[in-house]
Amino acid sequence: MAVGWNGHLVLGLVLGFSLVSSLGELERFVESPKGDGSVTFLVIGDWGRRGNYNQTEVAHQMGIIGEKLDIDFVVSTGDNFYEDGLTGVDDPAFQESFVNIYTHPGLQKQWYSVLGNHDYRGDVEAQLNPTLRKMDSRWLCLRSFIVNAKIVELFFVDTTPFVDKYFAEPKGDVHDWSNVLPRKRYHSNLLEDLDSALKESRAKWKIVVGHHTIKSAGEHGNTPELVAQLLPIIQANNVDLYINGHDHCLQRISTSDSPIQFLTSGGGSKAWRGHVSWPNPEELKFYYDGQGFMTVQVTEAQIDVVFYDIEGQVHHHWSV
Ligand SMILES: *[C@@H]1O[C@H](CO)[C@@H](O)[C@H](O)[C@H]1NC(C)=O
Repeated sequence: MAVGWNGHLVLGLVLGFSLVSSLGELERFVESPKGDGSVTFLVIGDWGRRGNYNQTEVAHQMGIIGEKLDIDFVVSTGDNFYEDGLTGVDDPAFQESFVNIYTHPGLQKQWYSVLGNHDYRGDVEAQLNPTLRKMDSRWLCLRSFIVNAKIVELFFVDTTPFVDKYFAEPKGDVHDWSNVLPRKRYHSNLLEDLDSALKESRAKWKIVVGHHTIKSAGEHGNTPELVAQLLPIIQANNVDLYINGHDHCLQRISTSDSPIQFLTSGGGSKAWRGHVSWPNPEELKFYYDGQGFMTVQVTEAQIDVVFYDIEGQVHHHWSV
């Protein structure tokens, strides 16, 4: 891995990220690539448990690898705070599960987070509130947005409102649907904005990030609502990677009918050991049911994806 251009590094630390414009509903952020044009980031999901269930150990390894690879930013695939999101901007969980855990010098970069279904059980607006950014400038969580890093563009999608069962549990968990209803309009606006943003993208590589799975051999399995509504847009626009959390594992699925890689990084804390089922073993390229995280290195010529466990051992490496 080439070492970053120091000018950019200093500028990046000062500015963090820059908000450029908002086309339609999707806000856009710009990340400058390194001098050699490359972009490197970590992906972590399903993590906020006040350091428990190996969250601290995962954070430590992320720091070591993040420093070694000179990462540009961190992506969180959601379920940021267990069990029920944040109660408000003053919820101590923000300190206990984020600020005081990801302390390694290698992790002092911008974080880009989506919401998971557990985050929807709390005060959603609190996680989106700029007050959190004042407490820790690394934090940025929005429902759906775009990060443009020139050679690669990342499209973050709020997937929880697509899942029927969260709306159909009268006695189940309470979700904060403020600013989501009416649901149909929320879906159609989001999918239209995503489709046009993908069509306008001039990036060499396109990555879509959401909390819920599209394809997964884990406990939750596929998300039929996303297979029906999100997958066709991803396929029509030549997206290279779909990255999610939700299943507490690390995995890669690749099917013969499309070049898209379905990557799960949901091993940020509690893992569900033992559950794996996928009809076609040819397609399940990698599955690890313990804790860990993923790195993505992007250059003009290739993408490298690596999965690490809590000891920093590489479990899987894929490149295109
Ligand atoms: C922490 O990780 C180790 C190594 O993978 C594992 O053996 C242990 O069960 C994990 N602990 C918890 C609480 O998940």
